[in-house]
Amino acid sequence: FIGKLARFGTAVSLAALIAAAPASAKNFKIAVGDGAGGTQEALGKAFVAALVENTGGAHTGTLFLNGQLGSEQDTVNDAAMGLLDFSILAINNVTPFSPSVGVLTLPYMMLSLEDAETLTQGPIGQELVENTLRDSGVRILGWAYSGFRVLTNSKKPVTTVADLQDLVVRVPKNEIMIATYKAWGVNPTPMAWSETFAGLQTGVVDGQDNPYITVYSMKFDEVQSHVTNLRYLFSIEPLIVSEAVFQGLSEEEQQAVLDAGQAATEFSAQYLREQEEQIKNVLVERGMQISDPADGEQEFIDLATSEVWPQFYDSIGGVEKLNEALAAIGRDPV
Ligand code: MLT
Repeated sequence: FIGKLARFGTAVSLAALIAAAPASAKNFKIAVGDGAGGTQEALGKAFVAALVENTGGAHTGTLFLNGQLGSEQDTVNDAAMGLLDFSILAINNVTPFSPSVGVLTLPYMMLSLEDAETLTQGPIGQELVENTLRDSGVRILGWAYSGFRVLTNSKKPVTTVADLQDLVVRVPKNEIMIATYKAWGVNPTPMAWSETFAGLQTGVVDGQDNPYITVYSMKFDEVQSHVTNLRYLFSIEPLIVSEAVFQGLSEEEQQAVLDAGQAATEFSAQYLREQEEQIKNVLVERGMQISDPADGEQEFIDLATSEVWPQFYDSIGGVEKLNEALAAIGRDPV
């Protein structure tokens, strides 16, 4: 698939296919929360290439990076209303619309890329796709895998929960993440993703957490100097389509869209495996200092799992939903 992506990635082949496209050709608008060079853009490009291929060049899509089409949470509303075709955004910005998705954002729930692939691509992922459709009018078509959300800040090395106490940390408007920082003794600052760079730059907040690839694509190294290798959230980023737009397509076109989502998901996992280490090295070359949490992160883990998990059993559909997910990745039930 990567060979095909490279072939379709050239302007010439795309232009030729689009020129040959029928009058009903569509150029879908795809909102992307992050900047260039991240997993969201990689997923989006792979999706467009596969869509062009699957529809024989009839349909394509254009990516609007850096939240140009609105904050990530706004794009869910817009897609639900049929005002936007597609969006690629972080899972934590879908949870407020469909709380059962929160099972994948409980701290220290997913411990590797393999866990994320197993959960998103198996029966649990399918159930979450159905729940999201029911609750928020958008259909999840594929997933970008972005790695663990590491903590960055502009002030000092952080290795213990105590080190966190005097930092002002931005979090998404996500109840589970807010509760996690509270469990660590910090009152975090909820802020939309589209406002976060400015918040860090002006010092309204000292730090935030996101994966290495996202830190790179958002150029956070320009305004943040320290990184802590927290592993509390493995970030996954769904590609969603407006259900109104999806239902407006023929059965054949719907299948082409679904298949393109699957192809893009597979590409995304490979992209993370190939890029994360390299990108981490670039951030170090640019001056970011990386620390590991003390004592194998045990204090962070104990506080987050014991205090946060039980608060969200109801919203994820009961503790049995958590236990199903834990069983799927070979972990003991709670
Ligand atoms: C957030 O922190 O709001 C999201 O993780 C941003 C993203 O889409 O990368």
